[in-house]
Amino acid sequence: MQDILFTPYPLSDDVELKNRIMMAPLTRCMASDELVPTQAMVEYYERRADAGLIISEATIIRPDAQGYPNVPGIFTQAQIEGWRKVTDAVHAKGGKMFCQLWHVGRVAHPHFFGGEVVGASAIGLQGTVPRMRELTYQVPKALSTEEIAQVVADYAKAAENAIEAGFDGVEIHGANGYLIDQFLHHSANQRTDEYGGTAQNRARFALEVVDAVSQRIGAGRTALRVSPGAYFLLEPGDEQDTHTFDYLLNELNKRTLAYLHLGIFDDAMEFDYLGGKASAYLRERYQGHLVGVGSYTPEQGAQAIADKRFDIVAIGRPFIANPDLVSKLKAGQQLTAYSEEMLQQLY
Ligand code: FNR
Repeated sequence: MQDILFTPYPLSDDVELKNRIMMAPLTRCMASDELVPTQAMVEYYERRADAGLIISEATIIRPDAQGYPNVPGIFTQAQIEGWRKVTDAVHAKGGKMFCQLWHVGRVAHPHFFGGEVVGASAIGLQGTVPRMRELTYQVPKALSTEEIAQVVADYAKAAENAIEAGFDGVEIHGANGYLIDQFLHHSANQRTDEYGGTAQNRARFALEVVDAVSQRIGAGRTALRVSPGAYFLLEPGDEQDTHTFDYLLNELNKRTLAYLHLGIFDDAMEFDYLGGKASAYLRERYQGHLVGVGSYTPEQGAQAIADKRFDIVAIGRPFIANPDLVSKLKAGQQLTAYSEEMLQQLY
């Protein structure tokens, strides 16, 4: 059964994967204080080059995109050069790697960049920044339309920087309650201009980012991650969200992106307004390459691919525990179980 995982998969004319196992993006908060990838990060990613595609940990596109300590960026020359060392090491081992482009929107904190927090609407999150409990979330300033145009341009520039840094493409982080997701879910988007109020308007920002990035680096090197089910850093969703995602997916079908990636921690979760699992909802509506994820063992991922529930499986936590996950699977060896203490160091 697992053999299906080891079959090559063409994502686009530009990118062919040697197997159907992706390393999911995993924030580790271990970049330097200048948000530059370190030598330990070079070696951490290099050890995982057997994956069909590595998605980098979420990487911020500009200073006010930051909501967690020591996350890497892709907007300074030093950051580009730091990532170049990572991609060179991964390529030398025969791997491929996309950069996950990130703006956290209202999940940002001025502690990290000394400026204003921005979001779709002036609706704050309750609670405090993880790992830094003394920092309470702020009410964001709603972006003006001019400022939205600048953020879109900053995504395109970050994508260009990622290609300069040697990445094979980028995954736009539109999932998990961060900026793009804040526009998509009406609980965080109460705008009355052309970016809110209707499904088409709520999807506008996501599509503008997708189009700006595709135009800059090519649709075949551009991917998107989405969470149609609001499950993290958002209020519970409802039918308004379903309309937005129905519209968004229909629009994405007109574009030939490298892939669409579900954002979720456990794909067993069901959402009544999506008619069940988020992966099934996406599969029914999206015609391109679909990446499934969310508490799958490789065996379960292989079964899901065989059942055509998605085309590629992304594996997160087991990859933290097993740098040699792919070779262990091929050799039929037992995987080491993940535990949270493993987040303390990169190995
Ligand atoms: C994550 N996840 C995540 N997702 C994302 O889009 N960008 C990111 O930077 C991160 N960072 C991150 C860090 C850590 C420590 C965890 C555990 C998770 C979510 C991740 O990509 C994946 O969707 C989930 O972990 C579910 O997959 P697994 O771990 O069950 O295979």
